[in-house]
Amino acid sequence: MGITVNAHNGSGTNLDPWYDHYADRAAGLSISEVRALFAVASRPEVVSLAGGMPFVSALPSDLIRASFDRVMTETGPQALQYGSGQGTPALREQILEIMALEGIHGGVDDVVVTTGSQQGLDLVTKLFINPGDVVLAEAPSYVGAIGVFRSYQAEISHVALDEHGLVPAALRERIAELTAEGKTIKFLYTIPNFHNPAGVTLTWERRVEILEICRANGILVLEDNPYGLLYFDGPPPQAMRSIEEDGVVYLGSFSKTLAPGFRIGWALAPHAIREKLILANESAILSPSSFSQFVVSEYLRSADWKAQIATFRDVYRERRDTMLAALDEHLPDLARTQPDGGFYVWVTLPESLDSKAMLPRAVKELVAYTPGTAFYANGDGRGFMRLSFCYPTPETIRLGIRRLATVINGELDLVNTFSPHGRFARDPRSTKVAGPPPNIS
Ligand SMILES: Cc1ncc(COP(=O)(O)O)c(C=O)c1O
Repeated sequence: MGITVNAHNGSGTNLDPWYDHYADRAAGLSISEVRALFAVASRPEVVSLAGGMPFVSALPSDLIRASFDRVMTETGPQALQYGSGQGTPALREQILEIMALEGIHGGVDDVVVTTGSQQGLDLVTKLFINPGDVVLAEAPSYVGAIGVFRSYQAEISHVALDEHGLVPAALRERIAELTAEGKTIKFLYTIPNFHNPAGVTLTWERRVEILEICRANGILVLEDNPYGLLYFDGPPPQAMRSIEEDGVVYLGSFSKTLAPGFRIGWALAPHAIREKLILANESAILSPSSFSQFVVSEYLRSADWKAQIATFRDVYRERRDTMLAALDEHLPDLARTQPDGGFYVWVTLPESLDSKAMLPRAVKELVAYTPGTAFYANGDGRGFMRLSFCYPTPETIRLGIRRLATVINGELDLVNTFSPHGRFARDPRSTKVAGPPPNIS
């Protein structure tokens, strides 16, 4: 077949000969607008505060290597074979032990091992979403979840978030609006602990209230919790799944507490949903990687994994402290959240600035961040940016924030020069107040 050039809705041309053949859902697989810039941003001279990569160099690589060797010596043929679509019983037992740390008690049969929690998101969405169904999600929300929901043609409806997490009153209001419009709401997607990207944590009272609201409205809760064990001061409130079993699908992951390279996550689901998840898992991938599961299992059995998570906490706490201190020193007027764990700080820019438009200039100054627009399904978010403190060293974080201050102050000077008294004057929002972080809804 020769290459044809198609005009599409008068909006341009393309050189893909299969352009007219794709399923409608493929339209939801859009390239991130900032991906091209991130290719530039990954140059070594650029300080990246953009990605969410765990600092795997802090892992005890000798213990992981020993686990790997033992798996190959003792169970090689099994580890290299296909496995069960639900995951190995041994790993599922160990996952129960991990979840018990967050107050969750379930049976080993209720756990389904997935290829990272990203695949858990995909499977749950595949099971529940017809085109046009509504997924409720915090505003902002995890960019990878937005991508999955879009790929199944869900309508994503954002619900306000503040420094205490998802706002129950806003949830109630949104459900009423959508119901009045005749929409079908399938589930609420929420990241209660050390939110990506907002860095905030849902209070216990709100967990209880949100579960009540969802129960009353027949809405399933999809609780995504990859960061819960990475707390800096004290553990967050116990999981929503610890309060409610029947109405919650819980997603966990070894990506942030061990290593993302294993690609091992899990779902804990009520009985009927779990059965469907296993079938969907088998249809998607036959079985999660036996090899990864065996190595992770062996590591959990033989290493002091709790001590290793504590080491991660120390590493990330120091980086969080460094980033917040550098922001206070170099950008004291910026409003931001105060993460008690996880990887991210959410920054509110003065009203005149646009985080997406400013990114090329930042990369030119050799610093990168993620513009807030990545975390909204509706184009909002220009007034925000996500800064990650997980990967760069403290020294690099300081350098990155100094560069960011040059960029932001340069942009402010520019707008103030052109309109010193008018609409480009600094927004009162940018005046940092002592006390709670800003409302970031
Ligand atoms: C909130 C959230 N959910 C899910 C994932 C996917 O993680 P994985 O598939 O590596 O378990 C991430 C990764 O950054 C995340 O931040």
